[in-house]
Amino acid sequence: MNHRILVTYATRAGSTGEVAAAIGKALTERGFAVDVTPIEEKPPVDGYQAVLIGSAVRMGQWLPEAVDYIKTYQQALNTLPVALFTVHLSNLGDDDESQKNRNSYLDAVRPLIDPVAEAFFAGKMDFARLSFLDRLIAKLVKAPEQDLRDWSQVRAWAEEVEPMLGPTQ
Ligand SMILES: Cc1cc2nc3c(=O)[nH]c(=O)nc-3n(C[C@H](O)[C@H](O)[C@H](O)COP(=O)(O)O)c2cc1C
Repeated sequence: MNHRILVTYATRAGSTGEVAAAIGKALTERGFAVDVTPIEEKPPVDGYQAVLIGSAVRMGQWLPEAVDYIKTYQQALNTLPVALFTVHLSNLGDDDESQKNRNSYLDAVRPLIDPVAEAFFAGKMDFARLSFLDRLIAKLVKAPEQDLRDWSQVRAWAEEVEPMLGPTQ
């Protein structure tokens, strides 16, 4: 049986890539052969048993290259177990409003794919890694510099999702 898993991610300032790497490491330790690949490389999904796709959030949406990736490989992705993870900093609460708002980050993705699992992870704001424009926006909205990533939560999700990554047919 084939045990290859692709973890691909879209990032602007690196924090989503580090979350993807942590997921990849957890799955590798559970015996899978995992490739963690930036989405801009448009990794083909052939030969993988499952695909995990992650994106940072900018201005209330997944990054466009992550949506484009799903559109490009939509047909193949719909024959595989696909899990989605989102890395963001607003709407982190357990209240209905926060949940509704963060769910809307995937509005462009939902019509395209039916994931076996979804996660929302608190991310990181690091001014030094932002583009000029993003830094300007972050400062205008007085976003604090912070790293809220919870590595045990990321790891626990990778472990939780693993049984769902088996063949769909
Ligand atoms: C310009 C800008 C806009 C952002 N917009 C949102 C947003 O609408 N909602 C949210 O939850 N987080 C937002 N964030 C937070 C990022 O999603 C968070 O910092 C994430 O960890 C970034 O991932 P990256 O380092 O992989 O780019 C924004 C950050 C920046 C710099």
